[in-house]
Amino acid sequence: MTSQAIAEQLASTPFMQALRRQKSDYTPVWLMRQAGRFMPEYRQVRAKTGFLELCHNPQLCAEVTVMAVDLLKVDAAIIFSDILLPLQSLGCGLEFVKGDGPVIHNPVRSVADVEKLPKINCSESLSYVLEAVKTARRELPENIPLIGFAGAPFTLASYLIEGGSSRNFEKTKRFMYTERRAWDMLMQHLSQIITDHLNNQIEAGAQAVQIFDSWVGSLGQSDYTEFVLPHVARTISGIRKDAPVIHFGTGTSSLLELMRQAGGDVIGVDWRIELASAWQKIGYDRAVQGNLDPVVLFADKNEIKRRAENILNQTGGRPGHVFNLGHGVLPETPYENVKYLVEIVHELGSK
Ligand code: CP3
Repeated sequence: MTSQAIAEQLASTPFMQALRRQKSDYTPVWLMRQAGRFMPEYRQVRAKTGFLELCHNPQLCAEVTVMAVDLLKVDAAIIFSDILLPLQSLGCGLEFVKGDGPVIHNPVRSVADVEKLPKINCSESLSYVLEAVKTARRELPENIPLIGFAGAPFTLASYLIEGGSSRNFEKTKRFMYTERRAWDMLMQHLSQIITDHLNNQIEAGAQAVQIFDSWVGSLGQSDYTEFVLPHVARTISGIRKDAPVIHFGTGTSSLLELMRQAGGDVIGVDWRIELASAWQKIGYDRAVQGNLDPVVLFADKNEIKRRAENILNQTGGRPGHVFNLGHGVLPETPYENVKYLVEIVHELGSK
């Protein structure tokens, strides 16, 4: 097939149709963290390779990306990578410590730290991600769209300032409240990197991109509006118009209208709100993605079916719903249940 014919075939898949709110034959489904520790085949790869080492190996990243699609029969692939890799390019000393998650050895704690951050050329310093995207695109079936991704400015800033994961984001918010100018500088610096990295992934072969603002739900509405929205809006408006943008966060029930305002063709919704009321808040001129509680996958098949059906029923038959979890698949999830969810969504969501 010519590349033009492949592009057309990809554009007419249920996943791409749903992102654009076009009718599709069935509701497409993919799962955040669909390549992860719940999967025995992934654990085999990880037994021999450290996580960061894996992320820096384009051939292995492509393999893991394709493997998840082959095994789970999902309707889209997401490139195997991590939102924190751009922070490594900034020289912040990223490490994944077994059991503790990510650690940033040189966190940003002052105006001087922000001023010291280097300007980076994303196509060079993250070239291994782009190579993984190219390889995965080549190795994926021609009817499976590939999603590129990046962290959103707030979520990346939170890792950079906290020095790792956090519960209350005290350091991040203190910095935001007390160092307004440095905060805006940092957010601007990060949004430029994110926009560049997403555009590079689209150029390398991604059909759509997702922005993960995983921890933005820690903010109230006025803080989001003042400290985050303008930066996310700038990030998204800089993205090439030929690839739809999925704008995802968790704990965002009270922020959905503002996230919509910030941008995105599709808004990702977590399970803390009913999908019907989320879509009403977001507006029917945007598509939605979500929103099964990942912990439902620890229940039995009847319960999984009941919950999946409940979500599908909340769309009112409108085109523009991509089925997903409300957050990533958890590592201890029974593998059979993940496979079952994809099957049952395909069965119940056929139109
Ligand atoms: O969805 C996919 O299948 C694609 C791959 C993907 C990973 N990370 C692989 C990964 C994606 C989209 C991400 C994004 C990411 N990374 C986010 C946003 C999504 C979210 O969950 O909110 C965040 C916050 C991170 C940062 C990060 N990376 C954390 C907090 C952890 C967990 C650390 C731990 O000890 O579990 C990671 C590691 C990570 N990223 C794993 C995977 C498969 C697990 C690493 C392993 O194999 O041990």
